[in-house]
Amino acid sequence: MIELSNISKTFGQTTVLDDISLKVKSASRTAIVGPSGSGKTTLLRILAGFDTPDAGQITLRDRVLFDQNTFIPAHERGIGFVPQEGALFPHMKVGDNIAYGLKGSKEENRRHVAELMELVSLDTRLASHWPHEISGGQQQRVALARALAQKPALMLLDEPFSALDTGLRAATRKATADLLEQAGVASILVTHDQQEALSFASQIAVIRNGRFTQVGSPGEVYSRPVDEETALFLGDALIFPAQVSGGVARCCLGNIPVSNPEHTGERRIMLRPEQIMMTTAHQQPLAMISEVDFTGHLSTLTLTSPAWPTALQVKTLSQQHWQKGTSVSVTVTGHACVLAA
Ligand SMILES: Nc1ncnc2c1ncn2[C@@H]1O[C@H](COP(=O)(O)OP(=O)(O)OP(=O)(O)O)[C@@H](O)[C@H]1O
Ligand SMILES: [Mg+2]
Repeated sequence: MIELSNISKTFGQTTVLDDISLKVKSASRTAIVGPSGSGKTTLLRILAGFDTPDAGQITLRDRVLFDQNTFIPAHERGIGFVPQEGALFPHMKVGDNIAYGLKGSKEENRRHVAELMELVSLDTRLASHWPHEISGGQQQRVALARALAQKPALMLLDEPFSALDTGLRAATRKATADLLEQAGVASILVTHDQQEALSFASQIAVIRNGRFTQVGSPGEVYSRPVDEETALFLGDALIFPAQVSGGVARCCLGNIPVSNPEHTGERRIMLRPEQIMMTTAHQQPLAMISEVDFTGHLSTLTLTSPAWPTALQVKTLSQQHWQKGTSVSVTVTGHACVLAA
C-alpha cells in the first residue's frame, strides 16, 4: 500500500540512505531496527514529507507522493508522525495539542480528545496541563493521541515508547498495536529495541549504514539472519565454525541440520540460546562449565571442551546446579543458520 523505491539521501558528503526500497501492506505493522545513525529517522521524515530525498519514488495507495516531478507536502499525505522527541506544541495545553487539526465543534472535540486520551491510557484530567507539567512518557502518549486524531492511512512512530519504563512500555506498545489494527492503520515503528520490534511487527526491516540488510517476518530475521552483525543485533546468538554439506553442519556440538543448505563448505553457523539443551546426564558431547555469570532469571555459562576449538557462551535459565566445574551434556534442537561469508 505504501511503496518506497530506490530512495537515496545525502547530507553534504554523507550518504545517509543508499537506494532503499520497502513495501508496507495495508493495515500491517513494520518495524525498522538498526544502530544509532543508520538513517531511521531520516527515512521516516522523508516518508512524512518533512525532508526530500535526492532520488527515488514514494507511492501511497497508488498516489505518487514523491518522484522526480512530484512533491506532496506533509499535511496532504494522510500520514501520521510521532517524532522521536519535541513532539508537542509547548504553548498549547495537552487537550489542545491533541485537538490540533480536529474540525468538529468545541464540545465534539472535547469528547473526542477524552476518548483518545483513554485509548492511550492517559488520565483525562491531564488535558488542562501544559506539556512541561507532564512526564516524558506522558508526552509521548499525547503525541500518539494527536497523530491518531487525524485518522491517518499510515502511522510513523519514531521510538515512541522510549521514555516509558518496562511494564508501561510493553502495555502501551500492545495497546498501540491493537489500536492501529482496529482502526486499520498501517504503521512503521522505528526502535533500537529488538524485542520490541519482534513483538510489534509482522515485517522487520534491519537497516545498517543507510541500507536494508534484511527484510522479513520476525521469525525469519531472528532464526535466519543474513550475517553475523544482523544475528547479534536481533538477540543473543552462538556463532561458531562448521563444515556444511548436504544440509548438515558438522561442528563441535555434533551434526546439526541447517535451515539454508545452499551455503556449503567452511562456514560460520548460528544458533539461538534457546536451541541449546544442557543436562547433567552424561551423554556425548560433553563439556565443562568454566564460568557462571548469574544475572537473576538468566545466567551466562561459559562452556569448554578439549574437543572444541573455542569456548561457547550460553545464556540459559538459572539453575542452582549450574556451578563452575560441573560437567554437562549439550544437545541442540532445531536448525542452525549458515551465515553469509
Ligand atoms: N539535517 C541533517 N543534516 C546533516 N546530517 C544529518 C541531518 N539529519 C541527519 N543527519 C545525519 O544522518 C545520519 C542518520 O541520522 P538519523 O537521525 O536518520 O539516524 P537514526 O538511525 O534515526 O539514529 P538514532 O537511532 O540515533 O535516532 C546521521 O549521521 C546524522 O548525523
Ligand atoms: Mg532517530
